[in-house]
Amino acid sequence: MEINLAKKAAGEKAAEYVESGMNIGLGTGSTVYYTILKLGEQVKSGMKLKAIATSLATEKLAKECGIPIVDFSATQELDLTIDGADEVDGKWNLIKGGGGALMREKIVAAASREFIVVVDASKKVDYLGKFPLPVEVIPFGWEVTLKHIKALCRTAYLRTKGAEIFVTDNNNYIVDMPIKSIISPKQLELQLREIPGVAVTGLFIGMASKVIVGETDGKVVEL
Ligand code: A5P
Repeated sequence: MEINLAKKAAGEKAAEYVESGMNIGLGTGSTVYYTILKLGEQVKSGMKLKAIATSLATEKLAKECGIPIVDFSATQELDLTIDGADEVDGKWNLIKGGGGALMREKIVAAASREFIVVVDASKKVDYLGKFPLPVEVIPFGWEVTLKHIKALCRTAYLRTKGAEIFVTDNNNYIVDMPIKSIISPKQLELQLREIPGVAVTGLFIGMASKVIVGETDGKVVEL
């Protein structure tokens, strides 16, 4: 599929920024998947890396690819993190968490000197919000937390997986907010953070240091 060509192009390009000896963060999703495969090849060719994974799925994939996985007891500073996004605006603000890994993704990105975002061109938007904004909430009192979130977005809903509530790697829940157009991401971030029970939002504001966009013809554009 052409979209996979775009994801592959962006994901593999980002691997070029990784140098031997680095401590890196590995994101989650179908675009950074290609970065991880590429890094696996580089490790097999002798590159020395230590990586912190942003999800159990990424940890499993990285290990299968031979990439050494550590945790924050080994280092609290990462040279570089590479991760996907659900939306990117013109100021490189992001919506993340479509796959539910937002909490670890935010912690890892915030611990990194550089944060490279890899996306296919369909993720570029003028205003964030067409993609429902994921908000991770703790299970205790989630009904009350959802009620507070609904005051900001009345169509917000608890994420489910089939008949079950979706549970994150941190044993939390996700509320998705279909806002359509977020005029002030910073203000919304602050409003959400004031709600007891909100663990983290999928708004990544001012965190990206580079955005690599893959096109369906396999070309990449670096922003
Ligand atoms: C995971 O929770 C997300 O933040 C992903 O990084 C995001 O959904 C991008 O994933 P894709 O590259 O699969 O679109």
